[in-house]
Amino acid sequence: MGEQAKAIGVLTSGGDAPGMNAAVRAVTRAAIRKGFRVIGIQRGYNGLLNGECKELKPRNVSDIIQRGGTILYTARCKEFMQPEYVQKAADKCHELGIEGLVVIGGDGSFRGAADLSRIGGIKCIGIPGTIDNDIQCTNYTIGYDTAMNTALEMIDKLRDTSQSHDRCSVVEVMGRHAGWIAVNVAMASGAIACCTPETPYDINYIAEKIRKAHETQKEHFIVVVAEGVDSSEKITEDIKKLTGIDTRLTVLGHVQRGGSPTVRDRVAASQMGYRAVELLCDGQTNRVVGLKHGKIIDVDIQEALTMKKPFDTELLRMCDELAY
Ligand code: F6P
Repeated sequence: MGEQAKAIGVLTSGGDAPGMNAAVRAVTRAAIRKGFRVIGIQRGYNGLLNGECKELKPRNVSDIIQRGGTILYTARCKEFMQPEYVQKAADKCHELGIEGLVVIGGDGSFRGAADLSRIGGIKCIGIPGTIDNDIQCTNYTIGYDTAMNTALEMIDKLRDTSQSHDRCSVVEVMGRHAGWIAVNVAMASGAIACCTPETPYDINYIAEKIRKAHETQKEHFIVVVAEGVDSSEKITEDIKKLTGIDTRLTVLGHVQRGGSPTVRDRVAASQMGYRAVELLCDGQTNRVVGLKHGKIIDVDIQEALTMKKPFDTELLRMCDELAY
């Protein structure tokens, strides 16, 4: 029997994001083209620890580029914070012949990748896959565009019913620590106000703005609130109390994580997957792939983890000024 080709592992970790499948496809196809075997690891680092994996051939990743979710399943793995589990995962990689691992996920997943590389000597490359777009080294994360479009579609529907009933709709969008979805959909939906975790909000200012607009015959309102801001229930109650307008809360929730990825997500995921394999072929490790000003780049994983992404307060300011 001939010597087995070297293997590249691929896993998705953390919250799923539309476009992860496109990234899995790209990693698989690029790696096989370059002569590697590809091992798909299921349920993130948990699956690696438990040996839940199967070889991916080109046809295993057919017909997935358009699908939301992740065919590899995903999970958050608390054990991976402990070095003994990281070492166990590295041992598993050695056993499976995995020399390089592509981790598709958010910053928690990259922390795991950095540890696996440092403690276990496995070459790791991260691909930013999260709807939150909260990773510093990249302007763009896989899933972000689809999630924003899903949220916007829902808000457009809410607008119809708010208009019919002269109501104010408070819409909670995802983003426990990040207001990127919120600020973009607020701008795109013409929301009267937007509350994000990065910036303080003033409920009296929001109520006053609504009241003033109401005086000029504006009868329905959208207020976008990111999940990470205090309590959207309280914001809803306060607006109702301070303005006297019938105000309802809609929490969009996990619907934002599903659905067929947009063109942008599919293309970005494919480019990032391809580049991740190129980096592994070059013998690189501890890198995160990203998109900066339309170009695919890669940066040190620690840099991606330690720097905080500055929030687009200018977009928030413009959104506020345009809505009255
Ligand atoms: O990180 C993606 C994300 O959807 C956040 O926007 C949200 O706060 C979080 O995951 C929800 O996580 P879970 O699905 O584990 O409740």
